[in-house]
Amino acid sequence: MSTLNEKTAFITGGGRGIGRAIALTFAGAGAAVAVAGRNREALDEVCAIIEQRGGRAVAVTCDVADAMQVYTAVSTARAALGPFDILVNNAGVTYSAKLTDTDDALWERVIQVNLNGAYYCCKAIVPDMIARGGGRIINIASMASLVGMPFSAAYSAAKHGLLGLTRSLALELQRYHITSNAICPAWVDTDMMAEAINALAAKTGRTPEEAREALLSRGGQQRAMSPEEVAIAALRLAGPDGAVTNGEAIVLH
Ligand SMILES: NC(=O)c1ccc[n+]([C@@H]2O[C@H](COP(=O)([O-])OP(=O)(O)OC[C@H]3O[C@@H](n4cnc5c(N)ncnc54)[C@H](OP(=O)(O)O)[C@@H]3O)[C@@H](O)[C@H]2O)c1
Repeated sequence: MSTLNEKTAFITGGGRGIGRAIALTFAGAGAAVAVAGRNREALDEVCAIIEQRGGRAVAVTCDVADAMQVYTAVSTARAALGPFDILVNNAGVTYSAKLTDTDDALWERVIQVNLNGAYYCCKAIVPDMIARGGGRIINIASMASLVGMPFSAAYSAAKHGLLGLTRSLALELQRYHITSNAICPAWVDTDMMAEAINALAAKTGRTPEEAREALLSRGGQQRAMSPEEVAIAALRLAGPDGAVTNGEAIVLH
């Protein structure tokens, strides 16, 4: 597969989980990839795998909630790989707490990482896409972008906001041949899901196995997806076949 030959991609949260799978998949399809996140070691490991396979990659550290860190990371990555064609806003955090137990700092952090982070990255990278005559914005949203989620109001609010950003940019940027879409997965087997299982088990006295089953019982297929399955959906949007998909919420469940 080399559908992304001569394309450059910037992927947030690329060191582990879904972002790591997207980075490896995009690099496997021929893209030069910038992986951004807070954990340098994890990012370097992803870049090493890509380089061993003959690809091009660069690691840049940043907290996506901090605008200046994002702008610096994008500049550093651009200097190494050239301007970007593809942006994947994948970095995200969640939590589990009742509204009345949610402190304001937690609320703000969840909105900053999941929503503001995507805005900062779009702002930094869309000018590259306009200059190059096209591009792809792929936002890793959630089923929580489409329905409410008890005990995770900030997460659901941020992910609803991310979908609003996705749809607005789809309309604003279509004249530049830039598409903007969201992928909305149900449960995916990553650290985030493991944390949700542990939180549910701790709160309800269930075993981790029972908690996992309870979470999955809410979804259609009653199984967790692999990060690679999400990466394949992202690759479809990033490649030539993605040109006619714009402003969509692609539900994976
Ligand atoms: N797992 C699921 O069931 C599921 C379902 C629907 C949607 N999603 C969404 O999918 C995306 C990826 O989640 P995942 O399941 O792969 O979770 P994960 O395994 O917990 O990974 C989260 C990623 O986000 C990065 N990240 C977190 N906070 C960051 C920050 N402030 N700045 C920069 N990077 C940050 C992490 O990197 P560092 O820690 O190295 O910074 C890590 O790479 C998230 O947006 C999540 O909301 C997940």
